Amino acid sequence: MSAIAAEHVTKVFGRGETEVVALKDVNLTVEPGELVALMGPSGSGKTTLLRALSLIDPPSRGCITIGGQQICGDAVATVDDRRLRREKVGIIFQSYNLIPFLTAAENVALVLTLNGVPRGEALRRARELLQSLDLAHRADTYPATLSGGEQQRLAVARAVINNPAVILADEPTAALDTERGKAVMGLLRRLGRERGAAVIVVTHDERMLEGFDHIYHMVDGRIANN
Ligand SMILES: Nc1ncnc2c1ncn2[C@@H]1O[C@H](COP(=O)(O)OP(=O)(O)O)[C@@H](O)[C@H]1O
Ligand SMILES: [Mg+2]
Repeated sequence: MSAIAAEHVTKVFGRGETEVVALKDVNLTVEPGELVALMGPSGSGKTTLLRALSLIDPPSRGCITIGGQQICGDAVATVDDRRLRREKVGIIFQSYNLIPFLTAAENVALVLTLNGVPRGEALRRARELLQSLDLAHRADTYPATLSGGEQQRLAVARAVINNPAVILADEPTAALDTERGKAVMGLLRRLGRERGAAVIVVTHDERMLEGFDHIYHMVDGRIANN
């Protein structure tokens, strides 16, 4: 069974003269453990596709399947859909969406406590992961005091702490130098290879895609090579 799939996904923004068809009949299937990159020019639909796959902004037409559960069309996300997303999908947005009044460790631990892990254990696991991302010294500070690169790595930590079955990352290395970028990609690769996560990464940087299984190119709302 695939980890995540998009079938005939179309996404339309606006209507009439301002209508934009951001995704046009997109099909994409990613198996557990597979590493997939999405490349393509600005405005080609990469972020829209990740948002559709994550059920944050469902497609206008077509279906998303996550872990065997299928959601079609633009039905408003149900409680069930939201639980599916929380349990199965880790998302790294271009804007990091960190919670400003929680420390770095608390931002990461929150994902676990929302999923029922006791607070002490959640914080311990959060600190461990922050250590592996070279952020241990920042664990007790607030997001606003972190550099752009540190915020990006914190967003990565929060997305992966729960061992999600699916990881969706929108340019997760954009604010990082080469070495830290490679460390983040290495972590995503390990989550795929060792834990069986399906990983979909949007990136502009081919150098970061060592060891990826598929590189898809998006053009004008379509995947050109799929
Ligand atoms: N919320 C929105 N409302 C209207 N148009 C949007 C919205 N989000 C994206 N678009 C349009 O959809 C197209 C694809 O955008 P996007 O998915 O952000 O591209 P990419 O991530 O590849 O740069 C663009 O033409 C963009 O202007
Ligand atoms: Mg984008």
